[in-house]
Amino acid sequence: MSEINTTDLMSVCKRRGFIWPSFELYGGVAGMYDYGPLGCALRNNIVEVWRSIYKGREGFVEIDSETVNPREVFKASGHLDEFSDYITYCRECQAPFRADHLVKEFYENPDVLGPRELDAAFAEHGVRCPECGGELGPVDEFNLMFKTNIGPGSARVGYMRPETAQGIFVNYPNLYRYNREKLPLGVIQTGRSYRNEIAPRQGMIRMREFNQMEVELFVDPEDKDWVRFDDIKDETIELVPNTTGEMVTMTVGEAVERGIIANRVLAYFVYTTRQLLVRLGVDPARLRFRQHLEDEMAHYAADCWDAEVLLSYGWTEITGIADRGCWDLSRHAQFSGADLTHFKRFDEPREMEVERVRAKHKALGPVYKGKAKDIAAAMESLTPADVVDGKVTVSVDGEDIVLGEEFFEVSRVTEKVTGERVIPHVIEPSHGLDRIFYSVLEHAYSYNAEEDYTVLRFRPEVAPIKVGVFPLMEKDGLDDVAMDIYRAVHTSRVEAYYDGSGTIGKRYARMDEVGTPWCITVDYDTLEDRTVTIRDRDTTEQRRIPVDDVPAVIDALLAGKPFSEL
Ligand code: GLY
Repeated sequence: MSEINTTDLMSVCKRRGFIWPSFELYGGVAGMYDYGPLGCALRNNIVEVWRSIYKGREGFVEIDSETVNPREVFKASGHLDEFSDYITYCRECQAPFRADHLVKEFYENPDVLGPRELDAAFAEHGVRCPECGGELGPVDEFNLMFKTNIGPGSARVGYMRPETAQGIFVNYPNLYRYNREKLPLGVIQTGRSYRNEIAPRQGMIRMREFNQMEVELFVDPEDKDWVRFDDIKDETIELVPNTTGEMVTMTVGEAVERGIIANRVLAYFVYTTRQLLVRLGVDPARLRFRQHLEDEMAHYAADCWDAEVLLSYGWTEITGIADRGCWDLSRHAQFSGADLTHFKRFDEPREMEVERVRAKHKALGPVYKGKAKDIAAAMESLTPADVVDGKVTVSVDGEDIVLGEEFFEVSRVTEKVTGERVIPHVIEPSHGLDRIFYSVLEHAYSYNAEEDYTVLRFRPEVAPIKVGVFPLMEKDGLDDVAMDIYRAVHTSRVEAYYDGSGTIGKRYARMDEVGTPWCITVDYDTLEDRTVTIRDRDTTEQRRIPVDDVPAVIDALLAGKPFSEL
């Protein structure tokens, strides 16, 4: 592993069309990047590998939902009330800062500090404005969602989604029906999400508009297993449990048996994440899975493991694998009044005593008039567990209505039941696509300072260009043969690149710099014996192969055939 020369890496990324800071023409905007042609190709290849695992191997379905959502979605999801960072402004120069970042050096985990604790920390450690040395103002909450209006005026408030996940949760009834009312139900979605970060630094690690690849798996709360768990239970994984904070390597099976990972389905997808990241080119020696501390978990998470990779920024989270329990579906059921349960059929019908929340129609009618019917319908989906301090809350037409015991009763009745309704739990591997993209770049990066030579050692599957095709000279028909080879190899699956200018050494260097695994050179021997040279990026080894075999050889190499066996 060569030392990461991030200046060189970013310069390669910009110059060769991987990523460009957005709006440079107008001075740029912090935390925003555009993907150039090679960046797009690399990112698409990453997405395809992810898709092939979840849609292909695991049989999940894919959806694509809206990025602007009405306020109600995020009231229910908790983002309106909970999704904030703490902000402070300099009293002198008015610069804004993320408060916990200013005390990073004094606390191991500053993001658990509340606003008053942060104020006290500034005073105790003499923290002042990093820009001008001025005094810092009081710490306040700053919601990270971008707010907008849906339609003209401000009648309908909307927010840009801060995670693609909610688009899956609000489509649960459609997805459940599509899956013929069965669990487990696995759904994936990739797309943009938005977080109005206070002061984004760290390049692509903290972007205001970013790409996610999210996976939401709805499971029976009493059946947190996975059909292929036994296939991976003896594989090892590097874990940092929150009980010790120390990294341990153990088998996935042992991690579940010892209660380190809460259940088999969560463990399976922690391991699946490891498989995905390593297949994409993350160095396993720079990858670990860290369990969130109790007070670090997101508002929805019952357990959460972060896939962290070692980058030039230090250990960085690139994927979170959370057990979100029944948080999302319970909340959306509560706020929308919809039934978001799964009907779990018993093998045999059972006589059961059940508790039911029943609306008192006679009491609701005179008070709530035209809304009474909708309120009563919303109450039907409540269970006795929804009764808090003798009251229930239902949401009708976006309005929360709190109802006391005069409007409902909880009654116990014996019924012959064929099954029961349960709220599915959600297991969520949530991948930060831009962070994975950047990690793949850093871990592929190799720089020889003596020769000032950069190679991106991408795994062939994700490399944006798979084959460079060169004529030794652009004359004597060598260029025609090279162009024929280029046309035979270049397909929607295999991107090839024809380059006829400069010395062969320069052309190899140009391809190495963008991570092209193989190059084909047409020379004068080709005209004699119809063979060409194929060169391997990582070993620089060269072989002769027949011109007509080039497409099949590239296919074989992409399928994993070692170059040495050509
Ligand atoms: N869905 C989890 C996240 O976006 O962080």
